[in-house]
Amino acid sequence: MKNLLPISLRVNGETHDVLVPPWRTLLEVLREHLGLTGAKRSCQEGQCGTCTVLIDGKAVNSCLYLAVEAQGKDIQTIEGLATGGNLDQIQKSFVQKGGIQCGFCTPGFVLATKSLLNENPNPSEDDIRTAMVGHLCRCTGYVQIIEAIQDAASQLKHESGN
Ligand code: FES
Ligand code: FES
Repeated sequence: MKNLLPISLRVNGETHDVLVPPWRTLLEVLREHLGLTGAKRSCQEGQCGTCTVLIDGKAVNSCLYLAVEAQGKDIQTIEGLATGGNLDQIQKSFVQKGGIQCGFCTPGFVLATKSLLNENPNPSEDDIRTAMVGHLCRCTGYVQIIEAIQDAASQLKHESGN
């Protein structure tokens, strides 16, 4: 078919070869070609954070990222976070601290937290608030989300012995 490009994406450690139009976003390819629907489609304008994935460990809005640009990079989605059926510590903290209600925003917040803690394992509340700018939640009022992120940071610090 015309206007289709063969691209190869490494998602959660697995390589996927897909044929896509050059203008297709990473969000569309993840959801529609690969069946990974954890990244949610909402504003599609970079305003809400529900489509967040990690590229080389950093949070990006996949609705604004062309799939072709993601070739050769490590893409991580929420589906790749738990290992062997065990939730990642950040996911556990969101559950335990009530940072999840309807859950629509949660994959984005969890991956944004992972990106933050990759760069700054000991964030202040201000650091957390700054890192979560651009992530919207209509249910929780944000307090429990901030508590969940603080809890994840503290548990991970404890695990690493620092
Ligand atoms: S859907 Fe990407 S930021 Fe809202
Ligand atoms: S938990 Fe419902 S939008 Fe955040």
